[in-house]
Order: sequence, then C-alpha cells, then structure tokens
Amino acid sequence: MSNFLKNRKSTRDFKKKKLKNETRIEVLEIFKDLEEEVDNKYFNFILFEEGDKIFKSLDGLAGYAGVMIESPYYIGIRLKEVTEKSIITASYYTEKLMTLLTKLNLGSCWINVKTVDKNIKANVLGEDNKNIGYLVALGYSKAKNPFIQESTSSRYGINDIVYKGELGNPISIDELESRGLDDLFYYIRFAPSNYNLQPWRFVLKDDKIILLLKYSEEGKTDLMDAGIIMYYFKALGEVIGLKKEWQLLDETDIEYDDSKYKPVGEFIL
Ligand SMILES: Cc1cc2nc3c(=O)[nH]c(=O)nc-3n(C[C@H](O)[C@H](O)[C@H](O)COP(=O)(O)O)c2cc1C
Repeated sequence: MSNFLKNRKSTRDFKKKKLKNETRIEVLEIFKDLEEEVDNKYFNFILFEEGDKIFKSLDGLAGYAGVMIESPYYIGIRLKEVTEKSIITASYYTEKLMTLLTKLNLGSCWINVKTVDKNIKANVLGEDNKNIGYLVALGYSKAKNPFIQESTSSRYGINDIVYKGELGNPISIDELESRGLDDLFYYIRFAPSNYNLQPWRFVLKDDKIILLLKYSEEGKTDLMDAGIIMYYFKALGEVIGLKKEWQLLDETDIEYDDSKYKPVGEFIL
C-alpha cells in the first residue's frame, strides 16, 4: 500500500482501447462488491461506455476550468441521498475502487462535474444521473516515454498537516516514530485531492487522531477529500495493526491562523 501510494498518479492520457470482456466483467463485479460492503445504502457506481460521446458533450464544461479528460469509459458516482455520511462513504469506496482498478492495469482520474448544468448531465448521462458531482475517467493508460521525466504534483510535508493536541502545535517525528505513525503520515500525503489542495489536517490527541478539513479561500470544504484520506488512513493503518474504524464527528468549526477547519472524523488508535 505504501509503495502504491507513493507511485499512484492520476491518469490523464488514455488509449482509445476497449476493455477486454473479462476485465469489463471484473470491473462490474468490483462495483457490486463495494456497493454491498456498505449494504447498498449510500451510492451506486455506473459504468458509462460511450466515452467519446461523453467527452464531446462535457469538453469545455467539466474538469478544472473546463478541461475534460478524454477516456474511453467514465464511472459515475451516484449518491442515493445527499448527506455528509453518504458523500464521505462514496468517496472512500471510490478511492478503494481506483486502487483495485490499478491491479487490473487500468488507469483512472477523478473529474469534477459539479458545475456542469443539470440539463446537460441529464442529456448525456441520463435523467437519473443529472445530480452526479464526480466522474472517474477509466481506461488503459498510454505508455510513458521512459526518457521524459514526468511531472509530479507537489505535496505538503508531515509537519504541515500533523499536529499534537491542537492545530498549530507541532509534533516531532520522534514522537510519531515512537507511536509507529511516521510511515503512515509520510505515505498518506500522496493521496489525491480536489485541485491538489491537500486540505487534510490531523491532530493527535492522546489515543486518538482527529481529522479536520481546511476551508478553501472561497470558504468551501469538499467532503470527497475526507473520504479519500480516510480510506488511505484505514488501509495503511491496517498494515501497522490499527483495527478501529473512523467515527464521523458533528462538531463546530475551528478557527486557527485566519483559516477555518471542519472537524470530520476521529480514529481511536
Ligand atoms: C475529488 C477530486 C476531484 C478531482 N477533479 C479533477 C478534475 O476535475 N480534473 C483533473 O484533471 N483532476 C482532478 N482531480 C485529480 C487531482 O487534481 C489530483 O489527484 C491531484 O492533483 C494529485 O495529483 P496525482 O493524482 O497525479 O498525484 C481530482 C481529484 C479529486 C480527489
């Protein structure tokens, strides 16, 4: 998992190749298994197979500044109900899905379609899917040129995102090491986030970790970012013997250093 995280990268260049039939079936089975892991309560994954049509309809409208990612398939993440719990659960399982897709040699990338007009989404994705906020581009990645150094997205350091007791209070690497958490926080930083904002902050309090999300300059948080980091925390945590689950918090925001933070969850160590 740590190796995977360090090397994981969004795929934005896809071959125009269709999925092998057995791979397509496996993908659909993974959708079903993941939906069932949470008793089919929170989300559905939908495989859109007319990639070309979707790309043409959403180009200029979806993705960062209208830059739609071209891929032969897209996965829709449809919430059964819009609640904090369902958003966090859906993004947790989407990131788990993306990890499993890598094992099938498939590349993927999150695409933000929140600002696309609902009528357009109804037209291209179907009436039932007009409220979808995120798609995942899916397909075989184009081969990389081994002679070209690939660009990588920057990441914050551990000391920018992990604190002791309260936000702003630094934690020493020695302490993280003695608690067996140094590797976990080193690797978790490679998780993807909307606009690569890396809004996650962790506060270590006695025997628990609190996860907070930093509000953006526009005053927003995106709970999708919370579910994703919770998934990687849980997956890396299992490797070092952490057995508990995240519990969601319903607490007031915290102000620190002219910014606002939303407490999202706690994990007992
Ligand atoms: C919720 C979410 C939405 C995203 N939306 C887009 C998008 O619309 N367009 C895009 O090119 N990348 C999108 N990304 C990918 C991130 O920009 C990318 O994961 C981040 O910059 C880190 O880069 P890496 O995945 O290559 O490590 C999104 C990621 C997340 C988690």
